[in-house]
Amino acid sequence: MPEQLIPVLSRAEIAQKVKSLAHQISKDYAEKELCIIGVLNGVFVFLADLVRELTLNVQIDFIRLASYDGGTVSSGNVRITKEIELDVKNRDVLIVEDIVDSGLTVAFLMEYLKPFYPKSIKVCTLIDKTERRQVQVPIDYVGHVIDQGFLVGYGLDFDQKYRALPEIYHLKQ
Ligand code: IMP
Ligand code: MG
Repeated sequence: MPEQLIPVLSRAEIAQKVKSLAHQISKDYAEKELCIIGVLNGVFVFLADLVRELTLNVQIDFIRLASYDGGTVSSGNVRITKEIELDVKNRDVLIVEDIVDSGLTVAFLMEYLKPFYPKSIKVCTLIDKTERRQVQVPIDYVGHVIDQGFLVGYGLDFDQKYRALPEIYHLKQ
């Protein structure tokens, strides 16, 4: 069967969720300087929209982690393919993810950041996919919750495809 794309979030719905996340984050970190660490590659579209809605001084860096090896199920084997370069010592850090699924990536990142002694670490994700959670990770800011399904678009890919779609879809194979 050919791949089918079923609409999940429109451009307008995404924009509204991004605005409301940015509003909450701006409120919580008012008067503070925030260090944002985006998790590549999937987060690049969301992060670009999110930071432009913030009313804060932010520094932005990226880390790239790989765990999927081209499939739709996490291999469970997270590895770093690009390290952070910002000095996060004594800084308030916000990890920004496109989607949290098993939780392994976020759990790995929290451990990875500890030896850099940030003042605080919080997590923001556009999508919280709950069904396959393997590790309970604290997620402080959530744009949208789904229980299952593989999503593409707005930065999210399947085997490097569909990232540039402006809306979010459920991929049916
Ligand atoms: P986790 O480690 O299983 O929580 O997965 C985190 C990463 O897997 C996310 O940052 C995404 O890059 C990728 N991922 C998880 N679910 C999806 C999905 O439905 N579509 C696209 N990528 C996904
Ligand atoms: Mg990701």
